[in-house]
Formats: sequence, structure tokens, C-alpha cells
Amino acid sequence: MSNKVTLPRLAEMKRNNEKFSCITCYDATFSAAINEANSETILVGDALGMVLQGHDSTVPVTMEHMIYHTESVVKANSKCLILSDLPFMSYTNEEEAINNAKKLLQAGANVIKIEGDGTLAPIVESLTKVGAPVCAHLGLTPQYINAIGNYRVFGKSEEESNSIFQAAVALEDAGAVILVLECVPEQLAKRITEAVSIPVIGIGSGKHTDGQVLVLHDLIGLTRRPPKFVKNFMEGQPSIQSAISSFVDSVKEGSFPEKEHTYT
Ligand code: KIV
Repeated sequence: MSNKVTLPRLAEMKRNNEKFSCITCYDATFSAAINEANSETILVGDALGMVLQGHDSTVPVTMEHMIYHTESVVKANSKCLILSDLPFMSYTNEEEAINNAKKLLQAGANVIKIEGDGTLAPIVESLTKVGAPVCAHLGLTPQYINAIGNYRVFGKSEEESNSIFQAAVALEDAGAVILVLECVPEQLAKRITEAVSIPVIGIGSGKHTDGQVLVLHDLIGLTRRPPKFVKNFMEGQPSIQSAISSFVDSVKEGSFPEKEHTYT
């Protein structure tokens, strides 16, 4: 029997208050390491534009890049639920979103991730209707860096906090199966995680979300000036494999993130 993590399994983990982990990944070798570490999920994230390609944002990433890296990750992974990003401006209307989601699902992804706010609801609904499971990414949405101006914490003001909360509820109603919350205050992430019935994955959003994700290169200590929410899991570990396992285990037992990694 397959021991691959499925969406129903992830939903069950949420109901049972079991934490789960997610790590970004772009190639077969690291995919095998993350598989071996028993991370429940893996994300082929468009942050590859920065960590692999050296751009200063995720904006230049294309569908071709995402398909190539998704295929590489899929080949070496038998256990993780695989999330893959639709890149910037590849889901601006229903038809484009469906065509591009189809390409990532055919490359082997299990869930498509898109960034934005409550206005994503019609696209989430269209993708859901044709059988493409959607993860909606709220809070700091790096694809929109040119519009937002800088990478910062989102949801500190009451207005921004309410807008993110309402977007989370609206996107669950539209059919989203997972939420990612990036760089939102811990209290807001807790409120959203308790209000929705779908699994919520946090990054820089405190310890109360159902799952935690980090960018692979951050957690193995390769990023020169990592953000506050990153922990270098290589410290004290003899190998990259054990650093990855240490991240997965720390998330599952609830010892990561700590106060020092959290915005309040
Ligand atoms: O692209 C990415 O790596 C992401 C994570 C930061 C969640 O979206």
C-alpha cells in the first residue's frame, strides 16, 4: 500500500491537531532527502527564482521553469504531498489558470499554489471545479513585490488583519484545500487557523498554524542574511540529511518556531 500523504490525510492531521512539515525543493537529490525525512509535504516554490537563479524577486520565474523543477522533484519522491507554484501572472484569468494548472498537475504536482488576496476567489472556484486542488498563499505575497514595495510583515494594522482574515474565509469557501500564511503576526495566524477547517501552513507566522514551511536553502544555513523567522538547522548536525530531519521533527513536536522566529 502507498504511504504517500494525501489531502484527506492532511485534513485528518488538522482535525487531530497533529503538526506537519513542508520544505521547498527544486531537484531530485534534495527531494529524496526530504522524502527520507518523512516530511508530509514538499513545495516546488517559485522562490527558486531567487535561490537557484539569483534574481532579486520571484517575478522572472516562468511556467517552463516550474514544470522542469516540478518534474525533477516528483521523480525522487514517493511520500510527500507535492505542492507547486503557479508563477507570477500565469493565472490572471480563468482559462490561463486552468491551462497552467493542468501543466503542473501533469508534471506530477498534487496541489497548485497561487498568491494573492480575497480577489482570488473566482480563480480558486474555477480551478476547483475542474479538479485542480488549490493552495492559496496570503499575507506577504512575494510575486507582487513591485506593487507592495518591500518584503514586510502583513496584517499588523486592524484593516490589513481583517482583510487577510476575510480572504482566508472567502478562499476556503471558494474551494481552497490548503492555506499558506507568510509573515503575518502570530495572533492573526492563530485566529485564521482556528477559523478555517482546511490545513494552514505558516512561514514567519508563529507556532499556531497546522504546518510550517521553510525554504530549503534557509534551513540548511546557506542564506547569507536570513529573515528573523529562519532557523539554521545545520547547527550541531553532522549532515544535510540530519538537518532536514531535525527541521521535520522539530515542526512535528512543536518546538519550531520559537518566540525569536515570530512576529507579534
Ligand atoms: O516560493 C516559495 O518558496 C514560497 C514559500 C516561501 C512559502 O512560496
